[in-house]
Amino acid sequence: MKAIICEKFGPPEVLQLKEIEKPTPRENEILIRNYASAMQAMDITFRSGRKVLSGIDRIFMSGIRKPRVKIPGLDFSGEIVSVGSKVTKYKKDDQVYGLSKKGGACAEYMSISSTSEVAIKPSNMSFQEAASVVGGAIPALAALKDLAKIQSGQTVLINGASGGIGTLAMQIAKHVYEAEVTGVCGTSNMSMVQEIGADYVIDYRTQDFTENGKVYDVIFDAVGKSTFSKCKNSLTKKGIYVTVDFYNPKKHLLQIITSKFTSKKIKSGMLGNFDDLNLLREWIEEGKIKSVIDKVYPLDQIVEAHRHYETGHARGRIVIAVD
Ligand SMILES: NC(=O)c1ccc[n+]([C@@H]2O[C@H](COP(=O)([O-])OP(=O)(O)OC[C@H]3O[C@@H](n4cnc5c(N)ncnc54)[C@H](OP(=O)(O)O)[C@@H]3O)[C@@H](O)[C@H]2O)c1
Repeated sequence: MKAIICEKFGPPEVLQLKEIEKPTPRENEILIRNYASAMQAMDITFRSGRKVLSGIDRIFMSGIRKPRVKIPGLDFSGEIVSVGSKVTKYKKDDQVYGLSKKGGACAEYMSISSTSEVAIKPSNMSFQEAASVVGGAIPALAALKDLAKIQSGQTVLINGASGGIGTLAMQIAKHVYEAEVTGVCGTSNMSMVQEIGADYVIDYRTQDFTENGKVYDVIFDAVGKSTFSKCKNSLTKKGIYVTVDFYNPKKHLLQIITSKFTSKKIKSGMLGNFDDLNLLREWIEEGKIKSVIDKVYPLDQIVEAHRHYETGHARGRIVIAVD
């Protein structure tokens, strides 16, 4: 099968397209003919060995001297071609989507555990669209549903509203939880952010949302560009600040302090819950959530795809087509 292989840490050019042997599923695994992968920050950590936000992630996730993950690609969508002898939940021809923590989605076939990390794909999305929503929705739901306990009618601000996580967070806050949502993004993304549900849009290039006097019940920083101390005055009395920067020890310490001593709180520690993929499918099939895809690259243009993601200015998700 065709697969992208990463043998050593380095720039995007270390990624090579190769022919390798197709995997065989173990008794609890499913073998998927994978059609799409969507890029996320862990793809960069796995390839480069470089920290993404605060750094501890590098040691645990990417490996120390060489990549722990040889085939990149976490977010995927494809069709089951065979199942291990103990798999009862899925069958051949089921169309699925998910997030493989051990990578492997930049390949024509991947075998993964049937008990986690995968769910039946939304019927009204293509494989590329389905792959594009997974890696944004899981942390967005962890932040909004599990940590902030978002309620209908609350005022919510999403910083980084145009990114992979931000575009999902915007739609979930607005169309699922019926909050009043403010999206913070750059000038060129303002109309897109409005289209996906923003009641108000703030251009971070011309306005600092922490200095306009407005307050929010929930502030979710979906790009990790702000701090709790800077956002504190933009929170309501019992407001909650959540950030994607969950490996940051300083933010964990602040979480402990604010949980005991202050009414405004910071929350982090989002690892995500894969059962949320079933909730997400329902919302997508009800028309509440759509995919936002910046660009689709074929497998043999993986280097360009990584360069694009690393600009930090992707609009929604960058997708790798594995045709
Ligand atoms: N905690 C978790 O579970 C978890 C899981 C996955 C990822 N993460 C972290 O989440 C972060 C975001 O990942 P992602 O893939 O969603 O990012 P992304 O898609 O690469 O974010 C790019 C977007 O961010 C916007 N942006 C850049 N600088 C900004 C600023 N100062 N203010 C507001 N918007 C800005 C860009 O808009 P412009 O082009 O207009 O600048 C662009 O649309 C990553 O750092 C990653 O490490 C956390």
